[in-house]
Amino acid sequence: MTERLLFGPGPSLVTSRVMSALARPVLGHLDPVLLGVMDDLRARLARVCHAPPGSRVFAVSGTGTSAMETSVANLMEPGKKALVVVTGYFGLRLADIARRYGAEVRTVECEWGRAIDPAAVESALSAFPADIVAIVHAETSTGVRNPVREVAALAHARGALVIADCVTSLGGQEVDMAGWGLDVVYSGAQKCLGAPSGLAPIAFAPAALARMVACRSFYFDAALLEDYWAARKYHHTICSSLVFAFHEALVAIEEEGLEARWARHANVHRAFATGLADLGLSLLPPEDERLMTLNAVRIPDGVNDVAVRTALRERFSIEIGAGMGPLGGKIWRIGLMGASATEAHVLTLLGALKLTIAD
Ligand SMILES: Cc1ncc(COP(=O)(O)O)c(C=O)c1O
Repeated sequence: MTERLLFGPGPSLVTSRVMSALARPVLGHLDPVLLGVMDDLRARLARVCHAPPGSRVFAVSGTGTSAMETSVANLMEPGKKALVVVTGYFGLRLADIARRYGAEVRTVECEWGRAIDPAAVESALSAFPADIVAIVHAETSTGVRNPVREVAALAHARGALVIADCVTSLGGQEVDMAGWGLDVVYSGAQKCLGAPSGLAPIAFAPAALARMVACRSFYFDAALLEDYWAARKYHHTICSSLVFAFHEALVAIEEEGLEARWARHANVHRAFATGLADLGLSLLPPEDERLMTLNAVRIPDGVNDVAVRTALRERFSIEIGAGMGPLGGKIWRIGLMGASATEAHVLTLLGALKLTIAD
């Protein structure tokens, strides 16, 4: 059995407490005990997202992409106009899925490594009367935090709904669905929320529920999923083990306290950034546009990307991520999320990076 220190863009380390929950007896998908845990799970998720009253919150059986697709599948169809903010790979994926569901898609883009300027969204909206604006809060491919709150205000001023991808932020840094006016928020279990991948939370605010389309997907139909989660009607065979693990992770989050957890991620990020500077390394995004959860570290000239990642894995059993798209070979993506976000891990990582780069 190989154990890794998971410091990539996800999955993150999972505590033994959550891993033990995976080993509980398997239950049927309509077992009253499991359904009781699912009720509590969705209530906890609503609190983690700060979902407004009347929201529909549940977890899709699948990874983050399944929740991404659920958001699109229930709000987009031919005739709908979607403005997608693209600041990296996951914005591109959102635009791709929106096109597959027949929406008329326009993108507003900026250089990879920067956050979108809300003024660019405003001018795109003035030329294209979108029904929906979709934006990635935490762009995992670049380490950038986009100004979703500002973008949501602009979208609402023109009557558009807002979908926010919070896969790399929820549970690790502030996401305030109600306060920021986000109509759909989704995430994945395996990053800051501290569980293995396989369940993907999603929350639809009342304004989004009022504008649902006839969903073309059976598996991702939010009405059918609600029939399962609330009316106990069979839709699919949910994995009880993943429900138990995710539930345990959410209990642990509330025990730690959401704000304390954001502070832990921020402190660990700052400690890591300081240590990187001591090693002569730097982060790609400008300081005020950086994520607290995912660090995009510039690969210094003359250092071999693949050789460093291979040595980290083989010598220290450490996983870090490679750059994607135009940032391939230019950055490492180093995630410090969930149970991976500790000071002890920062020290281990900095030491291993120092030795590996020196070699
Ligand atoms: C911002 C963002 N959105 C969506 C996804 C897709 O999640 P998954 O790989 O769990 O399907 C990821 C995964 O890294 C992500 O970082």
